[in-house]
Amino acid sequence: EKGGWSSFMAKEISEEPEAVAKTILGRVHDGLVDLPEVTALGAEVLRGIDRVLIIACGTAAYAGMVGKYAIEQWARIPVDVELAHEFRYREPVLSPNTLVVSISQSGETMDTLMAVKYARERGARTLSICNTQGATIPRESDAVVYTHAGPEVAVASTKAFVAQIAATYLLGLQLGQVRGTLSDDEARGLVAELQEVPEKLRTALGVGERIKDLAHWMANTRSVLFLGRHVGYPVALEGALKLKELAYIHAEGFAAGELKHGPIALIEPGQVVFVLVPSPRDPRSLHSKVVSNIQEIRARGARVIAIAEQGDAAVLPYADEVIRIPLASPFFEPMLAVVPLHYFGMELAAAKGLDVDQPRNLAKSVTVE
Ligand code: BG6
Repeated sequence: EKGGWSSFMAKEISEEPEAVAKTILGRVHDGLVDLPEVTALGAEVLRGIDRVLIIACGTAAYAGMVGKYAIEQWARIPVDVELAHEFRYREPVLSPNTLVVSISQSGETMDTLMAVKYARERGARTLSICNTQGATIPRESDAVVYTHAGPEVAVASTKAFVAQIAATYLLGLQLGQVRGTLSDDEARGLVAELQEVPEKLRTALGVGERIKDLAHWMANTRSVLFLGRHVGYPVALEGALKLKELAYIHAEGFAAGELKHGPIALIEPGQVVFVLVPSPRDPRSLHSKVVSNIQEIRARGARVIAIAEQGDAAVLPYADEVIRIPLASPFFEPMLAVVPLHYFGMELAAAKGLDVDQPRNLAKSVTVE
């Protein structure tokens, strides 16, 4: 069933464009998001939500962290992301106006399931973002928005991750539309950008060979750091998780803005650091802040691999390698920037002769607490 691919993971990365396209398909009408699964909760209920709590494990939690930025921005509701296992052991504050959004590829992860049940029993509304039709978590939830990434076989999640981000964006847009925090014009503009993501993902997949070379010379690397800011931060965490899971090397993701509050002490000559560079077109000047971070670590001998948009020349003097991603506005960068990191985890594992689809000690779906 790998259909000519070297691994399920390779096949599933190649399916990232379709995973996003199919998750959006049929959910846009007249340029606006139309999620009957969500609107069925009732306009009054949706307008009354005063807090969104996203609960998930692993990669799904990082997708949730990306979604947090978008939902807050578009629907103007405070959003927290919590690892599912932390949730029910500390009497979280919940009310009928809390929307608890679980994210799970399998829909069977025990930690997430128990958190959803707990939230529901205590009167919160529960919405499941899930990739598996009829799984337990969606059955235990008040509403479900399915991701349509198709079955994911490799233990390390890839295409489900981008589909989960797309689903949180659809949710954020739907909430923004219902609550009036987005004008129709704003919503239409964002929907159009979301619809362009699959094509941009096809372009982003073109970095595969380049990453393979990079992974080849790095097969003996013992530690890799990832830096990102804003929506790039969860992408950095995801890049690091993939290296731990697949290549069994020590990897950490850091918020770039935290660099001087600790992580910079780790930088010594030769330390490999991937940096997610925000677009220079971003009006908040996050780009120049991250470029300064690159200068700081470069001055201490780091080997910098920058992931930056096409045409961003500011990174060239400071980066050892620049991996290009297609142009997109800030919220739409994570789905593109994660592609080289998914490839990198896979290729580094392959370069080390490891089993890419079945890493040691891990299970695709963890159905015990
Ligand atoms: C882990 C998997 O055990 O479970 C990860 O190895 C995954 O890849 C996590 O992200 C959560 O799984 P699910 O099915 O709830 O998304």
